[in-house]
Amino acid sequence: MNFRSDNEVGAHPAIIEAVGRAFAAGPVHSYGGDEWTQRVVQRLRDLFEKPDLAAFPVTTGTAANSLALACCTPPWGSIFCHPNSHIAEEETNAPEFFTSGARLFRVEGPGGKIDPRKLAGALAQPVYGVVHYPQPSTVSVTQATECGTVYGPEEVAAIATSTHRHGLKLHMDGARFANALAFVGCTPAELSWKAGVDVLSFGATKNGAMAAEVVVFFNAELAREFEFRRKRGGHLLSKMRLLSSQLEAYLTDGLWLANARHANAMARRLVAGLTPLKGTQLLYPVEANEIFVVLPAHMHDALAAGGAQYHPWPSDRPGERAFRLVTAFDTSAADVDQFLSIAKAA
Ligand SMILES: Cc1ncc(COP(=O)(O)O)c(C=O)c1O
Repeated sequence: MNFRSDNEVGAHPAIIEAVGRAFAAGPVHSYGGDEWTQRVVQRLRDLFEKPDLAAFPVTTGTAANSLALACCTPPWGSIFCHPNSHIAEEETNAPEFFTSGARLFRVEGPGGKIDPRKLAGALAQPVYGVVHYPQPSTVSVTQATECGTVYGPEEVAAIATSTHRHGLKLHMDGARFANALAFVGCTPAELSWKAGVDVLSFGATKNGAMAAEVVVFFNAELAREFEFRRKRGGHLLSKMRLLSSQLEAYLTDGLWLANARHANAMARRLVAGLTPLKGTQLLYPVEANEIFVVLPAHMHDALAAGGAQYHPWPSDRPGERAFRLVTAFDTSAADVDQFLSIAKAA
């Protein structure tokens, strides 16, 4: 009953086997000149219905976000993001470092989503071209958000409209893009470039890969400096097939979406069993694979004693204990049901 994080789970067997096969293939071109990397780019072009997109594998979500943001944001630029966003809270100033000094501005909104009206207000400040102020350059949204909610295509489009009106670029941290897409049920294109996203950090690590993310530029002109930045940042792997073989398997036969649908379904199963129980309360609607919930103390104690693992989470209301539970591609229905039976007994 490990519901601590989708970073703690292992990798899908099809992905592990793909890496084994790629390395058993003998010598191949290095630094991304290999056939796996070329096929991944082609698969992404097909998947996103965008034959001119540019895509580059990296090992971590932090690298994907920071390198993508650095391609959109000069050192004197600013990035607008939600106060809970991973780039603002949990990347140890990597975006500031990789942009060589850009400033992050927090734009509030409920449920981890940037409020489009607040964003429009923030972007309307008379700072453009004024040498004394950071220059607005990029807006970054997280999909699914750090609160487990999902932006629909029209919500992304509303943010993209004010972003582009002022000449900024729209970045999407898609560490859980698959879970978001599985919830919305539209096409990958509709949830990204057709809604106005310029560059996507497309995650795989949390959803069945060992460690692999890919930065997808829908506006290929923006990618001009990417390869230099990735190399300078120490993220150009000589044996790039390590990442590309994972990503190819991830994108084969819909594995990425099947994994995400399963993780989301396990989250729904947990919520369906948990929320009718007295004293429980969701902090946010559960739309992807993360659940933020208040549990009564005796229930939490019984679950902990029974071996359930999950993280505490800050709650705004004094005396209340909230927790985060995360499901993943390999969460079993039996684990969910065992968790629920302990909770019900308590
Ligand atoms: C929303 C989000 N973005 C990005 C990341 C990047 O993670 P890492 O650099 O640990 O691979 C994470 C990891 O937890 C995340 O939750």
